[in-house]
Amino acid sequence: MINQKYMIQKISIQQPCTEMTVLVTPELANFSGRMHGGELLKILDKVAYTCGSRYCGEYVVTISVDKVTFKEPIFIGELLTFLASVNYTGKTSLEVGIKVIAEDIKNHTVRHSNTSYFTMVAMDEKGNKVTVPPLEIKTEEQKIRFKRALERRKKRLSS
Ligand SMILES: CC(C)(COP(=O)(O)OP(=O)(O)OC[C@H]1O[C@@H](n2cnc3c(N)ncnc32)[C@H](O)[C@@H]1OP(=O)(O)O)[C@@H](O)C(=O)NCCC(=O)NCCS
Repeated sequence: MINQKYMIQKISIQQPCTEMTVLVTPELANFSGRMHGGELLKILDKVAYTCGSRYCGEYVVTISVDKVTFKEPIFIGELLTFLASVNYTGKTSLEVGIKVIAEDIKNHTVRHSNTSYFTMVAMDEKGNKVTVPPLEIKTEEQKIRFKRALERRKKRLSS
């Protein structure tokens, strides 16, 4: 129960995009002194949860994660920005796409380090699947993302 003494401002519902930023600190390192892949996966899952849950206003669980590749190492001290968006909604599931931008704070450079796709299923308090609000496609970019997400979904469900 949220205490009414706080100044509460209503925000628009069903926000399809979420941005989260994490500083890569030494406890996230592996034995070679770079970011541990498992730590990145853990953050990606949190970002996917936040984006999906914030969009549909329900608890969401991860049902699948597409192949994640670690083509470039992430270094301690870099600032990671996770750009997440709901690309597709089905009946009870939605796809969250996450683009990871790694920023070298000292040298003022950025690079695109990873992209991954999470499928989340919305659940109520009793653990029953619930319908997600349909995604409103407003831009050309959303249209392209939706189309690509639909193709990925077909592949996932047929494999
Ligand atoms: C999520 C869960 C409730 C789904 O229940 P289910 O009966 O297996 O799911 P269904 O077959 O009815 O599918 C539900 C949705 O997921 C989609 N789905 C099913 N299998 C999928 C897969 N392999 N990849 C992507 N989406 C999938 C379905 O298409 C459906 O979407 P839609 O309603 O939008 O059409 C159940 O699988 C579960 O509890 N999984 C564990 C979740 C968890 O603990 N995650 C953390 C991992 S440690």
